[in-house]
Amino acid sequence: MRVLVTGGAGFIGSNFVLRIRQTRPDWQITVLDSLTYAANADSLAPVADEIEFVQGSIADEVLIDRLVAANDLVIHFAAESHNDNSLDNPYPFVETNVIGTFRILEAVRKHGKRLHHISTDEVYGDLELDDPGRFSETTPLNPSSPYSSTKASADLLVRAWIRSFDITATLSNCSNNYGPRQHVEKFIPRQITGVLQGVKPKLYGSGENVRDWIHVDDHNDAVVSIIEDGRPGETYLIGADGEQNNREIIALLLELMGKPADWFEHVNDRPGHDLRYAIDSSKLRAETGWLPRYSDIRSGLQATIDWYAANPTWWTSSKEAAEQVYTRLGR
Ligand code: NAD
Ligand code: DAU
Repeated sequence: MRVLVTGGAGFIGSNFVLRIRQTRPDWQITVLDSLTYAANADSLAPVADEIEFVQGSIADEVLIDRLVAANDLVIHFAAESHNDNSLDNPYPFVETNVIGTFRILEAVRKHGKRLHHISTDEVYGDLELDDPGRFSETTPLNPSSPYSSTKASADLLVRAWIRSFDITATLSNCSNNYGPRQHVEKFIPRQITGVLQGVKPKLYGSGENVRDWIHVDDHNDAVVSIIEDGRPGETYLIGADGEQNNREIIALLLELMGKPADWFEHVNDRPGHDLRYAIDSSKLRAETGWLPRYSDIRSGLQATIDWYAANPTWWTSSKEAAEQVYTRLGR
């Protein structure tokens, strides 16, 4: 099978490509990535000779038409992905997440190819801390930030192209990922690399916000399960029952990294900060048999700490740039 992976030089996409080379060596992979600040070409270095890499944008109509025509399946990871950046400058989020997804859909429609669209639980908005409910495939879309509203827009475009044009597509909405090769602007790698450099973790607001953490390999294995066993036209939520609030995550990181429990600081909260995400992934589990393998967040975080400690050249230059942005944003 010839597979076009958009955003394959980013966090989840690069882990996907590395894992697919192990688990599905017969898939022929082409990565399309525009190499924004969030990409790291080093992530794909171990498989550089085994894949085709194309630098370019999913919003480039001619390029995307050619690449979709040449492949059987498109797995669409490419996005502007960081909420804080979307609050600073939403424009690239509309361009990539909305227009880029539209370009892919039109090419998929024209050439009769299959699409798997990667999305986020943030399209459903947030839950109260004491709400017994969790997000499911029937939860109404109610995004809060420019990032999540552009992802919800993309989801709606995919759903409309399925219904109106009968394209063969599936969607997945996953919760917060952690693991190796995540950009240092994101919560967990920001704190790990900060502690490695002697800087205290930064907690937004009260820190009671809950995220439903999943290891990136569990997310990517679920994507393969949906592609192989999911029903065309359907949406699947991906989650590993990993709810933790941000204070708990910082406490665990400090313990694992040998620092005192109070060695962190509060910084300004994110405007419109979503309170809680929680995923009910029973549809995915029942229909595909997928189960998470990394259910122990402690050992998953220890392995992630070990990866950042062993790979400083991967993150040092982006760390300085990311912290300059946070200084400007006051966070
Ligand atoms: P990331 O920011 O690490 O990587 C995104 C990649 O897309 C980068 O390599 C970037 O260069 C590329 N890209 C951006 N604009 C592009 C364009 N116009 N054309 C081609 N490539 C472009 O993001 P991530 O965390 O790996 O997220 C990947 C996908 O998964 C996104 O769609 C995101 O919404 C979704 N998602 C992420 C999480 C999470 O916790 N990180 C959870 C659920 C869903
Ligand atoms: O839920 C899935 C989403 O998870 C994805 O769609 C997004 O692409 C991904 O970035 C992530 O979004 P969040 O906004 O939840 O992730 P982030 O890592 O930015 O922040 C996680 C939590 O940690 C959030 O409550 C904000 C908080 N935070 C973040 C940073 C960077 C802090 O307390 N301190 C920080 O320094």
